[in-house]
Amino acid sequence: GLKKKEVNVLCLGLDNSGKTTIINQLKPSNFSPHQFAQAQDVVPTIGFSIEKFKTSSLSFTVFDMSGQGRYRNLWEHYYKEGQAIIFVIDSGDKLRMVVAKEELDTLLNHPDIKHRRIPILFFANKMDLRDALSAVKVSQLLCLENIKDKPWHICASDAVKGEGLQEGVDWLQDQIR
Ligand code: GTP
Ligand code: MG
Repeated sequence: GLKKKEVNVLCLGLDNSGKTTIINQLKPSNFSPHQFAQAQDVVPTIGFSIEKFKTSSLSFTVFDMSGQGRYRNLWEHYYKEGQAIIFVIDSGDKLRMVVAKEELDTLLNHPDIKHRRIPILFFANKMDLRDALSAVKVSQLLCLENIKDKPWHICASDAVKGEGLQEGVDWLQDQIR
């Protein structure tokens, strides 16, 4: 068959936001050896992990980075290779929304990102939490409307149930092909 176009995606965001849970839902290895694993059975990522998943037209290689403070300095080493970004926010973590914004601003101002028209997909994750902020509120707090030189999109998601993820990935695929 036709070979799918290969795309490197960086999955970024604070620790505990749900990056690995999202990637696990998108990976085919939800089946076979891990068939008894539950979506909520994840452990914090150490450093980073490289994962793969496919859509109808693309073959994604995802750099699932650790969001812990001590590992965040690793992110920038992969910016050059990234052709798309998935940035995950815990919509229930109001206290750290300002920290998420700081990390996003640092990312957007980095020389390897700043002048590139790289698409950014935001997941306002954990929308199932009682006190979760809406995607609109999250985008206001992160000042996403200030991003003028890159295509971006925000989706509310519940990574444990797998809700909202397909809409985001469909958008990302449309940006790339
Ligand atoms: P690091 O690897 O440390 O950067 O964290 P991460 O962003 O990869 O987060 P991870 O996927 O490990 O998820 C952290 C915790 O949040 C886990 O206990 C998940 O089960 C939980 N979680 C992830 N997504 C959701 C969600 O949409 N709703 C709820 N309620 N919990 C979630
Ligand atoms: Mg992780």
